[in-house]
Amino acid sequence: MRVGLLGAGRIGASHARFLGGHPQVDALLIGDADVRRAEALAGPIGARAGDPDTVLAAGLDAVVIATPTSTHAELLVRACDSGVPVFCEKPVAPDLRTTLEVRDRAAKTGVPVHVGFQRRFDAGYAAARQAVLDGRLGTLHRVHLVTADPAPPPAEYVRSSGGIFRDCHIHDFDMLRWVTGREVDSVTAVGANRGDAYFSDAGDVDISAAVLVMDDGTLATLQGSRYNGAGYDVRMELSGTAGTWVVGLDERAPLRSAEPGVDWPPGDPWTDFQERFEPAYANEIGTFLEMARGRAGSPCTVDDALEALLVAEAAALSLREGRRVPLAELR
Ligand SMILES: NC(=O)c1ccc[n+]([C@@H]2O[C@H](COP(=O)([O-])OP(=O)(O)OC[C@H]3O[C@@H](n4cnc5c(N)ncnc54)[C@H](O)[C@@H]3O)[C@@H](O)[C@H]2O)c1
Repeated sequence: MRVGLLGAGRIGASHARFLGGHPQVDALLIGDADVRRAEALAGPIGARAGDPDTVLAAGLDAVVIATPTSTHAELLVRACDSGVPVFCEKPVAPDLRTTLEVRDRAAKTGVPVHVGFQRRFDAGYAAARQAVLDGRLGTLHRVHLVTADPAPPPAEYVRSSGGIFRDCHIHDFDMLRWVTGREVDSVTAVGANRGDAYFSDAGDVDISAAVLVMDDGTLATLQGSRYNGAGYDVRMELSGTAGTWVVGLDERAPLRSAEPGVDWPPGDPWTDFQERFEPAYANEIGTFLEMARGRAGSPCTVDDALEALLVAEAAALSLREGRRVPLAELR
C-alpha cells in the first residue's frame, strides 16, 4: 500500500513508527506544513517527505491525518473526495456544525473513515467492555473516569485545542459510550486554572471534574488534570451489583497506597500517552489498514466521534454557564 501521513508532530511521529514498520505498507509519504519537520521524521524510517498537497496527490491507498484539530475537516473531506480511505485523529472538527458537515460529505463519497480514539484498541478497555456486555458486573450503577497528564501541552497547542473537555476528556466520553453501551443524558462540569495562566488566557482550565448521568440512570464521575505530578494516570472504574472492574490499575499506575505495608503498584509510573497506549496505537493503525484494504468496516465512525463531541460540548457549556446541561439541548 502507498500510505500518506499528514502531520509530523507528537502523534504523527507515533503513527509514523507503526506505519513505517508495517508489512502492508510499501511506501510511506509524510507531509507537514513545515517540510523540514516531515523530512526529519521520514529520513530515519526510510519514508519520503513533502508538502501536504504533494502527498495528497501522490496516488495514495490510505491517508492518516495527524495535523492540528482545526485542519482535520478540510483534509478529511479532500481525501474522501479523492476516494482515499482516511484515518483522522480525534476530534474530527472543533465544533458540532463542522463535524456534521464532514459526516454528510464523507457519507456521500462512500469512502470509509476511521476516527482515532485509540482506547478502543487497549486491552483493558476491551476487557471491561466485554465484562459489561457479558453481565459479569451485574447491573452497572457507577463509573469513575480519570485522565491526568503529568505535564501540560505547550501554550500554542492549548490555544487551538478547544479546551480540556474537547481535547482530552473526549477520550473518556468515547469510552463511557463504548464500554457501557449507553448514551450520556446530562453533564454538570466544573474546572479551575491552578497552573500556568496560558490556560485561562485561552479560556481553558487545567483541572476538571464532571458528573454525567447516563440514559439508564448510571452515574459517572470524571476528573482530569494537566499537572499530575505522580505520572500519566488514565483509569476507568466500573461498579455494578456483581463486581467492580478497573481499567488502568496495573503495575505502573501512578498511585501510592496510604496503607502501611502495602507496596503495590511496584513499577515506575507511566510517563505519557505514547508509552501508556503504545500497543493500542499499533493495533489501531493495523486495524485502519485492514479497513483501507476493504477487509473490515470502520471501528470508530464520524458518527461515533460526533457523539463524543456532543458530550464534550455539553461539558464545556456546563463549565461556562455553571449549570447542568442535558444533551438533548445540543442535539
Ligand atoms: N489520539 C491521541 O491519543 C492523540 C494524542 C495527541 C494528539 N492527538 C490529536 O492529534 C492532532 C495533532 O496533535 P499533536 O499533538 O501531534 O500536534 P503537534 O502540534 O505536535 O503536530 C501537528 C503537526 O501538524 C503540522 N501541520 C499544521 N498544519 C498542517 C497542515 N495543514 N498540513 C500538514 N501538516 C500541518 C504542524 O507543523 C505539526 O508538525 C490533534 O488533533 C490532537 O487532538 C491525538
